[in-house]
Amino acid sequence: MIQPLETIRRQFPALNRRHAGRTVAYFDGPGGTQVPEPVADAVREYLLGHNANTHWGFPTSAETDELIEGARSAMADLLGGSPDEIVFGPNMTTLTFQLARALGRGFPPGSEVVVTELDHRANVDPWLDMARMWNFEVRSVPFHLESGTLDMRALETAVNERTRLIAVGGASNALGTVNDLAAVRRLARDRNCLLFVDAVHSTPHLPVNVAQLECDALACSPYKFYGPHIGVLWVRRSLLDSLPVSKLLPASDRSPERMETGTLNHEGIAGALAAVEFLASLDAEPGSRRERLGRVMRELHRRGALLAERMWNGLASIEGVRVFGPAPGTAPRTPTVSFVLQGLRSAEVSHRLADEHGVFCSHGDFYATDVARCLGVAEVGLVRAGAACYTSLAEVDRLIAGVGSIARETGGDRS
Ligand SMILES: Cc1ncc(COP(=O)(O)O)c(C=O)c1O
Repeated sequence: MIQPLETIRRQFPALNRRHAGRTVAYFDGPGGTQVPEPVADAVREYLLGHNANTHWGFPTSAETDELIEGARSAMADLLGGSPDEIVFGPNMTTLTFQLARALGRGFPPGSEVVVTELDHRANVDPWLDMARMWNFEVRSVPFHLESGTLDMRALETAVNERTRLIAVGGASNALGTVNDLAAVRRLARDRNCLLFVDAVHSTPHLPVNVAQLECDALACSPYKFYGPHIGVLWVRRSLLDSLPVSKLLPASDRSPERMETGTLNHEGIAGALAAVEFLASLDAEPGSRRERLGRVMRELHRRGALLAERMWNGLASIEGVRVFGPAPGTAPRTPTVSFVLQGLRSAEVSHRLADEHGVFCSHGDFYATDVARCLGVAEVGLVRAGAACYTSLAEVDRLIAGVGSIARETGGDRS
């Protein structure tokens, strides 16, 4: 059992914000969630009480070293790896560019890389960049437009004896599809290539276990799971030790520091540690932090499925609304539902939901540009409603009512 929703909600001061005469209902979590008080406290506490650079002989510096070590342990507990495999950086995108550059140096001429059309550009462009630099081939795998699921047959065909790496998302930030990573991993093993997982959208909604996944590297972003704006990269230790990374000569060559260039965002790391602690604290039963995180993420996934079902059914029943991605119960998904409202650009729907209903939803393509293009909505964009650990059924109903009322008002304009 995890904390009741009301107890969770009390920890998020942002939920008291008012807009358009209503308390705000935040559905912008896939773009970045709200932050609970202990996370903001940890950032403040670090800056006001422990601020220093690392590896020096005075207390604030030692405390900073200790904080970073503690945060690596927390991230390792969240992801299932070991602390010396956790690399911190400014965001997932930058870390992935760095990883791609380093990997590219080691791949032989004629190598190929496989990406997918379901992915965020952050898990496509770093690999395209690498391919351009070393003249490698990139193959892109399509998804089924109806179900929003990856075309596994096409993936099998795309991977061949020259493939050095498959880059795939844990879940789609645009459609909510959860990918069958076990199947992708089997393929990667069979064909002897590396597996990189963009877990930015899956980590907030599902238990992650890099050991079980048997991937080689995985990235996530704590600001999507109640923390500050930093990025985290897990790299299998044997790979991390041997990666030809770009680094300054005097910088440490030990893992994981060898992949961290310059001074880290210490206060962000303090907040990320607190975000993992916050998630673990939602379960009060005995057990290690890793065990509690597992139980919490399973329960949040279960709650998310109920919210997703309500959102999907409610939105799909509105005349003029078209929802995308896996229908509830047909394939694993996160509580992220994207839709279009016929006759209106997504930006207008987003503005009206905020200004008329106090409901905050993102709009556009969310850098999942192939998803928007393949679905034929690159021009109008998608409206994206994402539930988080603080989302209530009442807020989902407000979202549905808001979209319904905008749909009714614009109904007459539809062709
Ligand atoms: C699925 C996915 N991958 C990657 C990213 C990029 O993450 P970051 O902002 O940490 O670079 C995002 C951000 O929205 C995302 O949703």
